[in-house]
Amino acid sequence: MTDIKKGLAGVVVDTTSVSKVNPETNSLLYRGYPVQELASTQPFEAVAYLLWNGELPDDAQLAELRSTERPLRALDPDVRTVLDLTPLDAHPMDEVRTAVSLLGAAALAGSGSVLDAGGSPEDNLRRSVQLFSALPAIVAYGQRRRRGLDAVEPRDDLGYAANFLWMTFGEEADEAVVDAFNRSMILYAEHSFNASTFTARVVTSTLSDLYSAVVAAIGALKGPLHGGANEAVMHIFDEIGSAQDVAAWLDTALAEKRKIMGFGHRVYKRGDSRVPTMRAALESLVEHYHRPDVLELYTALETQFVARKGIYPNLDYPSGPAYNLIGFDTATFTPIFVAARITGWTAHILEQAASNALIRPLSEYVGPDERHVEGYVPHADELALADRPEELG
Ligand code: COA
Repeated sequence: MTDIKKGLAGVVVDTTSVSKVNPETNSLLYRGYPVQELASTQPFEAVAYLLWNGELPDDAQLAELRSTERPLRALDPDVRTVLDLTPLDAHPMDEVRTAVSLLGAAALAGSGSVLDAGGSPEDNLRRSVQLFSALPAIVAYGQRRRRGLDAVEPRDDLGYAANFLWMTFGEEADEAVVDAFNRSMILYAEHSFNASTFTARVVTSTLSDLYSAVVAAIGALKGPLHGGANEAVMHIFDEIGSAQDVAAWLDTALAEKRKIMGFGHRVYKRGDSRVPTMRAALESLVEHYHRPDVLELYTALETQFVARKGIYPNLDYPSGPAYNLIGFDTATFTPIFVAARITGWTAHILEQAASNALIRPLSEYVGPDERHVEGYVPHADELALADRPEELG
């Protein structure tokens, strides 16, 4: 029997210089920099630049990225039309997936045959910046549309994180809120060969285009075992109610063998390096919004679940309640993750395209033994093919 690595667990499929996840030290490096250092010191735009180019930008490079990014922030009118056609009760991830697909169709219109789809490295970097710039408007309009509100025009005097909040809520966010949101975007930006990034690399490996790779990655991210977990955490918080109710809720949940969303990780088994930074951001939001009850519930569930199962929180655990405090609808959490992870996905797409090999694993067949359709007479060529020697010459 072949040794099958179900879920590709533990399988190293390629090299990458984008990020390093080290489960031994529970650490995460983007291009060599610890993520918590980046989250505490950098604007999200600088981290996007780092992921794409390998180095943090100097002032001129950051200014140049901003001068490209800011004019591309407005909601594309055709995207708006398509979003307006999407059912109001569609999941926002389906909206975002559709919007990226439309942007891709428009950007690649007239580009010729599929043989040209992949594009040059310069094309793909330009497309990466375009999606990075366009996504906040799509996510923000999605939430506003569901609340019966119109789109808000972008502000080009605001940084990325502040403008994202402006376009979502139509008012300027306080510095503490911008800072917490900026940190979360950096923490979500990249995480090596996770399911959605690997999906993007698989699509890229067929020489398909960047937009198709991102659309596929969005589909992978939607699942609750991946990006959907931050949304699921908030549903759990709503279900539990308050810190006093945690013990009884946990008894029932564990008796029912439920997975507690926001806990556990395929790679980190002793804690996720992003959690302390995001927890600190959550604490600052709790203080800002005067909501100690949120931290009490957060701490009670974490303490009791870790004591009973020895399974630690992942990034989705603190980010769920943080986004809730900022005012995002629960269903908007995973689209925010898309807006952050677009940087990591596209960095990996660029890397995959630069050193490509078609990703095509094998499987072990366990279906019925060979059998035949009654009355079928094989063609002579088919019989010859079955007998063809493995190596010629
Ligand atoms: N709640 C309850 N039990 C959990 C758990 C959780 N969040 N995460 C893992 N476990 C348990 C499993 O039930 C399993 O127990 P068993 O051996 O008795 O069957 C054991 O821990 C190993 O879990 P498994 O799912 O096989 O580990 P994995 O490495 O494949 O899974 C996740 C990693 C992320 C899929 C898993 O921890 C999970 O589903 N977490 C919740 C979803 C989530 O937060 N996802 C975001 C990830 S960033």
